[in-house]
Amino acid sequence: MENLQAVKQRFGIIGNDIQLDRAIEKAIRVAPTDISVLVTGESGVGKENIPKIIHQLSHRKHAKYIAVNCGAIPEGTIDSELFGHEKGAFTGATQARKGYFEVADGGTIFLDEVGELPLTTQVRLLRVLENGEFIKVGSSQVQKTNVRIVAATNVKMQEAINKGKFREDLYYRLSTIEISLPPLRERGNDIHLLFRKFASDFAQKNRIPVIRLDENASKMLLNYRFPGNIRQLKNIAEQVSIMEENRVISPEILSQYLPNNTTNNLPALVGNSSSSSDFSSERDIMYKILFDMRNDINDLKKLTLDLMQNSDVEEVQEENRGLIQRIYDDQDFSNNVEVVQIPKSSSDNNYDFIETIEEDENLSLQEKEVEMIKKSLEKNKGKRKLAAKELGISERTLYRKIKQYDL
Ligand SMILES: Nc1ncnc2c1ncn2[C@@H]1O[C@H](COP(=O)(O)OP(=O)(O)OP(=O)(O)O)[C@@H](O)[C@H]1O
Ligand SMILES: [Mg+2]
Repeated sequence: MENLQAVKQRFGIIGNDIQLDRAIEKAIRVAPTDISVLVTGESGVGKENIPKIIHQLSHRKHAKYIAVNCGAIPEGTIDSELFGHEKGAFTGATQARKGYFEVADGGTIFLDEVGELPLTTQVRLLRVLENGEFIKVGSSQVQKTNVRIVAATNVKMQEAINKGKFREDLYYRLSTIEISLPPLRERGNDIHLLFRKFASDFAQKNRIPVIRLDENASKMLLNYRFPGNIRQLKNIAEQVSIMEENRVISPEILSQYLPNNTTNNLPALVGNSSSSSDFSSERDIMYKILFDMRNDINDLKKLTLDLMQNSDVEEVQEENRGLIQRIYDDQDFSNNVEVVQIPKSSSDNNYDFIETIEEDENLSLQEKEVEMIKKSLEKNKGKRKLAAKELGISERTLYRKIKQYDL
């Protein structure tokens, strides 16, 4: 059997928590079989690693691995995405299309957020699980496929079943083996290992000095609840790395990055240090930028889905003229403009490009900041005081940024 440490290394999994180890060991053990696996755990605990391990350590590793986010596909098109459709099955279906279950024949499908599947799709899925049979939308011909299913959920499935939103028979089929991942707050020292790893990766990538928590800040991190788990810890490590000039982080500074930090038993921070009072307005700007970018990414996802499903590309382009213009206007996204030209018939994993956009986020963030500062300075004819006011940061911070970015 594969060695636990080797698997962790190969998949970039950090931590030695015993519950985490058990989960990975379970994945290693079931990998060579065809048994369905249900991965459970809160949002951001690393559920997506498990199906990757299972696929890579199985005899299916040379066939396709397709990850489907069931919550992100509109209800009206999910059957066609998963099982394909015949020409003329619905308005706009000018060509037959293979679904993921056909494309991934011999491989593995990861159904993320499986609790979000509509009931009608659940019926189709149950049939595939029971005898490997499915029918394309608009067809009457039964097809066969041999796909291993790993599903994941961060919702309580029992509740969904009780409410009639999820079929009990399907739940039992999917969860022959359940692998549950522990929340980050239960992983003890792994929290520090992960923080150091994220901080040093980020520093290296952006060529900035790495941040370090002082002793009390370390303790504070250990006691935080982390509702967003590892994803949140990573964000925190990166935010602190960008925003803080002083590379040794005190609990006073750290606590500002931990929303609803109820376990904080240090005296409340009074706004007497100028660096920390700058901080909240800077953070507001960063949040606004992040928020705008997230909206753009969501719009892009939707646009691309439309393009993949709608035969009339021009119509979709017309409807999304504003967004497309913004993409062209925006240098940050110019490398990803091919998104708009993804062939409709592409049957590969359609989510790849979305990851590309996310990888570029860090860089774009800085560029956005520079751009905002430049625009504001131009608009205010170089008057720093006015520009700082408009940007919602102090003059001192603006001065620092001008120097930092050599504006
Ligand atoms: N043990 C770990 N070591 C290093 N990175 C990790 C670890 N676990 C998770 N991550 C990283 O944390 C982030 C969140 O993980 P992932 O997307 O798998 O969460 P999830 O459980 O699928 O969450 P959701 O339910 O919200 O989809 C990813 O960037 C992942 O690479
Ligand atoms: Mg996930």
